[in-house]
Amino acid sequence: KILILDFGSQVTQLIARRVREAGVFSEVFPHDVTDEFVRNYGAAGVILSGGPNSVTEGDTPRVPQSVFELGVPVLGICYGMQAMAEQLGGKVENGHLREFGYAEVRAHGHTKLLENISDFTNAQGHGMLKVWMSHGDKVNDMPAGFKLMASTGNCPIAGMADEERRFYGVQFHPEVTHTVQGKAMLARFVHEICGCQSDWNMPDYISEAVEMIRQQVGSDEVILGLSGGVDSSVAAALIHRAIGDQLTCVFVDHGLLRLDEGKMVMEMFGKNLGVKVIHVDATAQFMGHLAGVTDPEAKRKIIGREFVEVFQAESAKLTSAKWLAQGTIYPDVIESAGKGKKTAHTIKSHHNVGGLPETLNLKLLEPLRELFKDEVRELGVALGLPPEMVYRHPFPGPGLGVRILGEVKKEYADLLRRADAIFIEELRNTKDDDGQSWYDKTSQAFAVFLPVKSVGVMGDGRTYEYVVALRAVQTQDFMTAHWAHLPHELLGRVSNRIINEVRGLNRVVYDISGKPPATIEWE
Ligand code: XMP
Repeated sequence: KILILDFGSQVTQLIARRVREAGVFSEVFPHDVTDEFVRNYGAAGVILSGGPNSVTEGDTPRVPQSVFELGVPVLGICYGMQAMAEQLGGKVENGHLREFGYAEVRAHGHTKLLENISDFTNAQGHGMLKVWMSHGDKVNDMPAGFKLMASTGNCPIAGMADEERRFYGVQFHPEVTHTVQGKAMLARFVHEICGCQSDWNMPDYISEAVEMIRQQVGSDEVILGLSGGVDSSVAAALIHRAIGDQLTCVFVDHGLLRLDEGKMVMEMFGKNLGVKVIHVDATAQFMGHLAGVTDPEAKRKIIGREFVEVFQAESAKLTSAKWLAQGTIYPDVIESAGKGKKTAHTIKSHHNVGGLPETLNLKLLEPLRELFKDEVRELGVALGLPPEMVYRHPFPGPGLGVRILGEVKKEYADLLRRADAIFIEELRNTKDDDGQSWYDKTSQAFAVFLPVKSVGVMGDGRTYEYVVALRAVQTQDFMTAHWAHLPHELLGRVSNRIINEVRGLNRVVYDISGKPPATIEWE
């Protein structure tokens, strides 16, 4: 396995994902782990991430010295390369010329890392790489034992290698897709330089995880809050595979789910997979508490609080349960490990239905803690969950509660559910020229209920009814997003169907706002 030390780059997680895509298990830890941890970890290689600091300043992060004494290959990326250079006796200069974005790098000599990897040959016959750069500082003097591996006009030492010790440094970012050969370089590093086999794959992972869960829980009983979302569903399927009837799922229906979602969850888990699922219809309770509340954050808080209450009441009935299972995934783990360092502004509280308090007095079982989202999906499919479910767009915990603007009413939710279902059905059924459906080409798509009435005409009669807005976005990380350029014919069909099929709605509009400045959800 590969140890990745995080120096605070925005894209550190991508390093782990790329390494795992090459079939090698890897984990991210903070840069300040102890030397003892490093020595005991059992890494076949270490990768040092980029980061926002400057090694030219005294109190900035350094690499645990043990990393260089392990006798395994080390790859430093950006700040990781600079820290390596500085700590091994080279020099780093505070750059006056900052370099961000696309760059063409010349590969020098023959290093095992870059040999026969290039994007094109330049006029002088040199192998060239198209890469993504993002740095201010640069290495001026390489430490003893290193030779030049790559350079650009701006950055004469864009890559360095000590092939004897198997230490490599690159100033560019091989983990991002803009570095065209990045995947090949990382695969080269882990396979040929570190000597790792491709043994990270789903079928093996399932048998290991099943064994782990059995050992962990023994004959105890486990409860899990099933939301119908990908993470809790895959966790349920995995735990059920391991311990069968020792698992009980509690599915809380807050009345703010999508059309037929409750039915689908019960059929999928209860009937098809034979999982014990308790279906709690708490619509009345949620609607009661939401009556008269219009503020988005207040609504989120109420939904989160009621969810916990309903779940607690149900789990209290399962007196023999000792474990609470959750679908926590690896990015949540890394993110919460970094908490406290971040001072990000809270735009929305993102109360995740499923975030349960410790007062339940149960031990936590989190079998997806090591997995990235795409791995969770792969696992779901391998466990027999339908791909349509596993590759579903994300759905917020507070559900339609944040898609009905202002006060939530059951009447509004019923109208919205039907409009939303029509939109999603048409997106699934309409393919683009490349054969992909528009559902797959968008990251999230949904309808929003606007509690305003407008005038329309149907047949000979005047109508005065509500409006829905359609929202469809394309994004990688949900932090920024573009509105999707859906074909007009598709939008026209959706609008026609909604107005004709859903009595109570007479106008459909399309949201053409990007994020930022708008957010994806309307509340
Ligand atoms: P925004 O609206 O902030 O949404 O651009 C970004 C992503 O987060 C989802 N979202 C939520 N998820 N609880 C959740 O579990 C919430 O309160 C919540 N609010 C937004 C949103 O659907 C999108 O995927």
